[in-house]
Order: sequence, then structure tokens, then C-alpha cells
Amino acid sequence: MEDDHTIQAPLKKVAIIGLGFVGLPLSMMFVRKGFQVIGIDYDTIKITALQDGKSYIQDLSDADLTEALQSGRWQVSADYASLAGADTVIICVPTPLSPDNSPDLSFLTDTCTMLAPLLRSGQLVVIESSTYPGTTREVVQPLLEKSGLVVGQELYIGYSPERIDPGNKSMAFSDIPKIISGITPACAQQLLELYSLVFEQVVSVSTTEAAETAKLLENSYRFINISFINEFAQLCDRLNINVWEVIAAASTKPYGFNAFYPGPGIGGHCIPVDPLYLQWKAAQTGINSRFIELSQQVNEGIPSYLADRIEQELLDGKKLTGAHILVYGVTYKPNIADVRESAAIPLISRLLHRGAVLHYHDPFVSQIKLEDGTRLQGVELTQERLEQADCVLICTNHDVMPVDRIASHSRFIFDTRHSFSLNAPADMQAKLVTFGDGTQ
Ligand SMILES: NC(=O)c1ccc[n+]([C@@H]2O[C@H](COP(=O)([O-])OP(=O)(O)OC[C@H]3O[C@@H](n4cnc5c(N)ncnc54)[C@H](O)[C@@H]3O)[C@@H](O)[C@H]2O)c1
Repeated sequence: MEDDHTIQAPLKKVAIIGLGFVGLPLSMMFVRKGFQVIGIDYDTIKITALQDGKSYIQDLSDADLTEALQSGRWQVSADYASLAGADTVIICVPTPLSPDNSPDLSFLTDTCTMLAPLLRSGQLVVIESSTYPGTTREVVQPLLEKSGLVVGQELYIGYSPERIDPGNKSMAFSDIPKIISGITPACAQQLLELYSLVFEQVVSVSTTEAAETAKLLENSYRFINISFINEFAQLCDRLNINVWEVIAAASTKPYGFNAFYPGPGIGGHCIPVDPLYLQWKAAQTGINSRFIELSQQVNEGIPSYLADRIEQELLDGKKLTGAHILVYGVTYKPNIADVRESAAIPLISRLLHRGAVLHYHDPFVSQIKLEDGTRLQGVELTQERLEQADCVLICTNHDVMPVDRIASHSRFIFDTRHSFSLNAPADMQAKLVTFGDGTQ
């Protein structure tokens, strides 16, 4: 557990519903700050693991959990009855997309429905799940009002978007400024008092809608810019210009330029999902975000583009049909075990569809589900497999990736992340192609 200074909090009891990538680190932070914390998750496998001090999130070690359990201030349960006595309930459940790309709020509405009969006067409920503007007021509030409590007087409701960056060790969670908002000024005040005790900087906005939209702006900004740089990389490939050199040069501008980098596509539970929440909300009012629509189109085109590039570059004029491809890394970003919306999945599905004989290795993921629902088991990264592969495809560059071993035993490396041109041994014999390096 990171070495935070526990402050003298008034030992309020905080319940956190949904102990995933967001809720589990958040619960640890409240424990560190001196709160009594009860974590609730309906996944009994997770609860059993946590009770045994076993972490399923890379950013938290077993020792972190054991320390929290031993503090006597952290309990976990699958039973909502354990919420009794909590002063605050924070909801961190998933907000994915439905098959038709519309918001799926079922996790959130189920949680609120189960929570309402358990609420009592004086409690604060905060939503941290990412969602479209209006959710807290139009969806959450009516469900919680079934408790019979009056919002702003007996029950306080707020929204605070979560900005955690799993796998990023460069910044302490509590140092990330925290946006807060309430349904009424009294609700907002409750959030301010609570979050000021745990976050270094709290940013109040006037409505829950503004807070919900701030999160969607942040993630739409990333979605659009990553899509743009991926299109830009394709352009550079065609112009025989190395996009990585171009980005490095442009990045020396001290103002007005933020670097984004090409990759196999946009993945994770947030960046590819949140803009579509915004798009859905916009559509309700007859508006269409052309930027989001276009970015989505560009993003969806990356697997085909990369499959074509790999085929063009295979040694001896080989075709994808029958080519042996060994993929390194299938998570949506390095150093975590999360494959939700990972760009590796559509790329692998595309390569298999085009007849490749494909295996993957990922130190964090033993099995993946492909687009057609079939499952693929991970394999060991053996010397024999590297030597046999017609192409070693780098989709995710985990820190533990054995660059030297891959470099010395492979014949052809296609790198979607620019991890080899910088780190490979100078005497590397393997052919190397990096997405956007202008070698097309
Ligand atoms: N993962 C991220 O990097 C990140 C960053 C910022 C915001 N968010 C947002 O935070 C929210 C949670 O994301 P996550 O990545 O932690 O998801 P997650 O899937 O890792 O965790 C959610 C947890 O909620 C539990 N759960 C679902 N419904 C429940 C219910 N009714 N009662 C009890 N438990 C329930 C699940 O079992 C799961 O353990 C989402 O809205 C996401 O968009 C995620």
C-alpha cells in the first residue's frame, strides 16, 4: 500500500459498492485515511479472494489487502445488509454499452434498487461510475427516493467522476484532483466535506450534469485524439514518413501541442465507451457529434489496416492464410490484466478470419474471448514458438516484455506500440516494422 499519511478522520463509515478496478483501490484509500470501510460486491469469488487477502488487481498487492484487513477498518461482503451503519455509500459499478451501443445502466439501476430500502436519514450516496449527463438526477434520484427520504434534507446524493488510471504508478490516487457535485447545495456540501478529507484537491462544479459531462469530455478528447493520431500514422505510412519522429519533434513545442501516440486501437472500459454515452445523450436531443462518429469509424478500421500491413510485410511474400502469428500482449494497455474492449481482440479475430495460425502470450491473461465468442488459451513464450512464427505481433508492451529474447529469436516483428525501435539490441537480425514508421 502506498505510504500515505493517515489523517485523523472522524472515523466515518464508508460503504463502497463494486470492488473492481475503481472501487477496490478507492476502498483502500479510504482505509488508509482512517475511515471504517465496508466493501460490497455481488461477485462472491472476488469477496472470498479479498477475505483471504488475495488481490486481483495489479496495482494492489496481497500485502496491501492483508494490511487493510489487519487494520480492522476494512471488511468486505456480498451482502447488502452489511451496509447498515454506513454514513456514505459510494457506487462504482460498471456502465458498459448494450449490443446496440446504447448505455447499459442495468448495473447502476440494480444497485440503486437494492440500496433504496436500506437507506436511512442522514446518509450520502455518491455515484462514481462514468455515465451520460442527467443520469444522477433522472435515473438514480427517483430510484433512491423510493426510500421515502427527502433529497437535500434527509438523503444526500452526488456525483463524482472517477479518474483513476490503472497501471499508472507515477501519481498517487489521492493526488488526482477530484471533481464533485450534488443534486442540491446541501448534497454538494456533504461531498465537499467527505472528499476534502481524502483528496489533495477537490473541484466543485455546480450540477451533477456538469460533473458527468466533464468526465465524458475528458474521455471523448482522448478518443478523438487517439483516433486522429492513428489516422495520421496511416497517412505517414503512405508518405514514407516516420510518425514517431514527427510526434517527438512536434512535442518539443512548449505550448499548444499534446502528444498522442498510435497503437492497435482504443480499448478499455472507459475511452471507447464513454463517448458513445455522450453520443447517445446527444441523439436524444436530435444532435449528432460528428467527431465522435468519425473517430469511431477510424478506430474500427485499424484492425483491417494492421492486418493488411502485416500481410504486406511478411517475409518471402507469404500471405496471411497459413502464416504463423504469435501475439505478445492482449490487454488494452500495459501492465494490467484488463481485456475489456481491448484492441487486440478485433485484430486477433481479423487475423484468424483471414486464415492465420495464431497464438498469443500475455503474462496477465490466460484466456481471451474472441469476437465470435470462441475462446483462445494463452501459450508460453518459448524460443521454439518465437523461431517458428512468421510474425511476432506486439499488441501490448508490458514492462516485463522480454525485448532481447523476442529480438534474438524472431524473424519478423510487427510492433504496433513503438517499443522495439527504442529498446531492441543494436545487432538485432529480425526484420522490424513499426505501425506508422513510414516503411510502407
Ligand atoms: N477501470 C477504469 O480505469 C475506470 C476509470 C475511471 C472510471 N471508471 C468507471 O468506473 C466504473 C466501474 O469500472 P471498473 O473498471 O471498476 O469496473 P469493474 O468491472 O472492474 O468493477 C465493477 C464491480 O462491480 C461489481 N458489481 C456490479 N454490479 C453490482 C451490484 N449490483 N452490486 C454489487 N456489486 C456489483 C462487479 O462484480 C465488479 O466487481 C465504470 O462506470 C467505469 O466506466 C473506470
